[in-house]
Amino acid sequence: MPLLLSSCKDYTAFDHTAILIDEKTKLSSLGISKAVLDDAQRFFNDKVNHVYRQQYEGKTLSIVKIDSSKEEFKTLEAARKAGFGINRFFNSLKVNEASVYSVARKPKATLAFIEGIALSNYDFLKYKTKDKTEKSLATLQVDARSADKKALDEIQKLTEANFFSRTLVNEPLSFLTATQLSKEISEAGKRYGFSVQVFDKKKIEALKMGGLLAVNKGSVDPPTFTILEYKPSRKKNKKPIVLVGKGVVYDTGGLSLKPTPNGMDMMKCDMGGAAAVAGIFAAVAQLKLPVHIVGLIPATDNRPGMNAYVPGDVVEMMSGLNVEMLNADAEGRMILADALHYAKQYEPELVLDFATLTGAAKAAIGSKAAVYMGTASDAVKKAMVRSSENTYERIVEFPLWDEYGEMIKSDIADIKNIGGAEAGAITAGKFLEHFVSYPWLHFDIAGPAYLMAEDGYRGKYGTAVGVRLVVDFLKNY
Ligand code: BES
Ligand code: ZN
Ligand code: ZN
Repeated sequence: MPLLLSSCKDYTAFDHTAILIDEKTKLSSLGISKAVLDDAQRFFNDKVNHVYRQQYEGKTLSIVKIDSSKEEFKTLEAARKAGFGINRFFNSLKVNEASVYSVARKPKATLAFIEGIALSNYDFLKYKTKDKTEKSLATLQVDARSADKKALDEIQKLTEANFFSRTLVNEPLSFLTATQLSKEISEAGKRYGFSVQVFDKKKIEALKMGGLLAVNKGSVDPPTFTILEYKPSRKKNKKPIVLVGKGVVYDTGGLSLKPTPNGMDMMKCDMGGAAAVAGIFAAVAQLKLPVHIVGLIPATDNRPGMNAYVPGDVVEMMSGLNVEMLNADAEGRMILADALHYAKQYEPELVLDFATLTGAAKAAIGSKAAVYMGTASDAVKKAMVRSSENTYERIVEFPLWDEYGEMIKSDIADIKNIGGAEAGAITAGKFLEHFVSYPWLHFDIAGPAYLMAEDGYRGKYGTAVGVRLVVDFLKNY
């Protein structure tokens, strides 16, 4: 359940409280009773990243001590993780309302702590008919001395956008077809305040989006191409920033069928890029950030149905380039290519694309970071890395050297949709590079988009990776 973040005068007015301190805090400054103070002092001694706990007469007090001696972004992540622990504690006790007070020296750590609590309160119970137990925590009262209302409001909105994105990923294909994805985004546009236009199959055919149509050939459900736009009257960018998201609502691998265990079984997540873009719009529009952004989401399922495209087919893409399709499972780049080409008409200042694109990216760095590469300036890359530290949605740059481009040359067409056995994340990036003519960054989120085990406040399954990263980037743009 999205947590209501409220501001209170005095945190002691509530039965359940969490206090955030750091290694320099004098416990005696907290105004806690002598007995508790002595006990807590003995407990902490010189420990950090520990939680002291008192339970009495149905009330609880948790004191969380984080280490703020390291680089700031590490402190912030420690605070978010501590927030996850506190969230789990309150929910395990079925607490409905709790309060937070912070005397941590870094004000950002306080916000990160609250963010960690808020992000951990996610539930996805739509398909449970039994054991439908929601998280109990509904309201967090934050002491006004610790954080101002504006900051709380921002966390709340960002969390709502994050949950929206996670739920899109968690929805199965039995609900979330390409058409339904477009509908969900249209409804979100009305709810949060951005405009949405959906192209149906006829329009996609008229536009000759050959990549998207080729992938869709084996499906009985039509493709969609969704355009999102947020254009405030006051904006920092002259030309739009375009966000592209891979919207493969299910990836069976097509005729190059995937095996089920640890393969096809998780492929409802293959619209994680689309979900990131939708979540970014939900956040930017709610926060009314002064940036003009356009979103492009090509969507279809990838199926081996009757007329499915076959390895060996040559596909004429929207850009006019001919692609020899040699693996039906390398479908993401086929649909992204048309979207990246479509983006040219906006003369964008910058294009960012998000895609659960390759198993190779996941194999290279696991679920802890996204792989990125692209042609944007060093300044943009640097700003993005800074945002990745601020949000701990970490990114690692891979090179787009010419030699990798050799690996996708085709004998009979312009390029082919697979490289060799090596450097799969990069050859996918090189493929996309053929369709861009503007500053561009490509994010391969195959690793972090969907987790098979819970990872703290990121949760289990859909993570909404990309949302917090790009919102931070746009805030500082
Ligand atoms: N959707 C997959 C990539 C993926 C793998 C996403 C694991 C999330 C978790 C993508 O369409 C794919 O199948 N890529 C192939 C490309 C190959 C055939 C060149 C891959 O990575 O194996
Ligand atoms: Zn695939
Ligand atoms: Zn895919």
